[in-house]
Amino acid sequence: MTLTELARAAEEIWAQWEKASGGVKTLEDLETARIQILGRKGRLTQLFSSLRDLPSQERAEAGKILNALKERIEEALAKKREVLAQGAQWERLARERYDFSLPGKWRPLGKLHPLTQVRLEIEEIFLRLGFDVASGPEIETEYYNFEALNIGPDHPARDEWDSFYLGEGVLLRTHTSPVQIRVMKERKPPVRIICPGRCYRRDNPDATHSPVFHQVELLWVEKGLTFAHLKWVIGEFVRAFFGPGYEMRFSADFFPFTEPSAQVHIRKKGTEKWLEIMGAGMVHPRVLEEVGYDPEEVTGFAFGLGIERMAMLRYGIEDIRLFWQNDLRFLSQF
Ligand code: DAH
Repeated sequence: MTLTELARAAEEIWAQWEKASGGVKTLEDLETARIQILGRKGRLTQLFSSLRDLPSQERAEAGKILNALKERIEEALAKKREVLAQGAQWERLARERYDFSLPGKWRPLGKLHPLTQVRLEIEEIFLRLGFDVASGPEIETEYYNFEALNIGPDHPARDEWDSFYLGEGVLLRTHTSPVQIRVMKERKPPVRIICPGRCYRRDNPDATHSPVFHQVELLWVEKGLTFAHLKWVIGEFVRAFFGPGYEMRFSADFFPFTEPSAQVHIRKKGTEKWLEIMGAGMVHPRVLEEVGYDPEEVTGFAFGLGIERMAMLRYGIEDIRLFWQNDLRFLSQF
């Protein structure tokens, strides 16, 4: 081969590429074209190997021609590759169009337990009315659970058949009322708290009894409080929690730590049945004295309600045990 022949062959390779490049539509076509020219047995590669057939004084010149062609072709391939890649991208995007009308993937979502929801709702109502949330221990002494609340040693609630005793004078609290004592001993009036919490009684579980249950205690002590204030607060609560359209009724009751004491009932207007919602009353003067308050100076009122009972009334639940069974068919409804 002579230098002239080699130069012509090089031009030929370029002309062939130019002709073929119009038909290159995909990246695969491009790769085929590249191999045909630059591959191990490609046309340009072969031309490079024919360099050694040239007389040595022509080789440098021939090498220059071939290297220039190689560069040109590589540039052309790169440009083409860019165009094709962009086209492939558009094509992929068009193919992958999302269908927003398809149903999504369902993922189970956790929820708060219905009793927690109800407790938070009750807290919210009283926080808005200016009450603080207080708490106390679930393991109590007889002093806080009974004595300081004016529950005498012969009171039936003290019976070990009714309370879970952990030792001499120590028991699981049977109500949230001991928190009243703890808070009053710590603070000076005015005191305005609610205390939600767990309580324990030796009851056999049935549809309306559970050995563990929850109460919310309320206490407001200040100068000049009367039974009318108690009625107003409970009325606000009933309206916020159960909604409008309920009426309230107070009937006389007895609790050692309140005087007078009452039981509060509500009834949906237009229906027959009264439902008991809580025990309440004016804090007994002896309780106020016990914590160092002067009953001539301040008065107070309190109530205690059952969270399970509130939830059962609100949602029409008839068996308290459902709250503990962890049955998702029940829990997922709230
Ligand atoms: N501690 C009472 C109980 O467990 C409920 C109660 C009644 C609480 C009257 C009070 C109250 O604060 O004033 O049955």
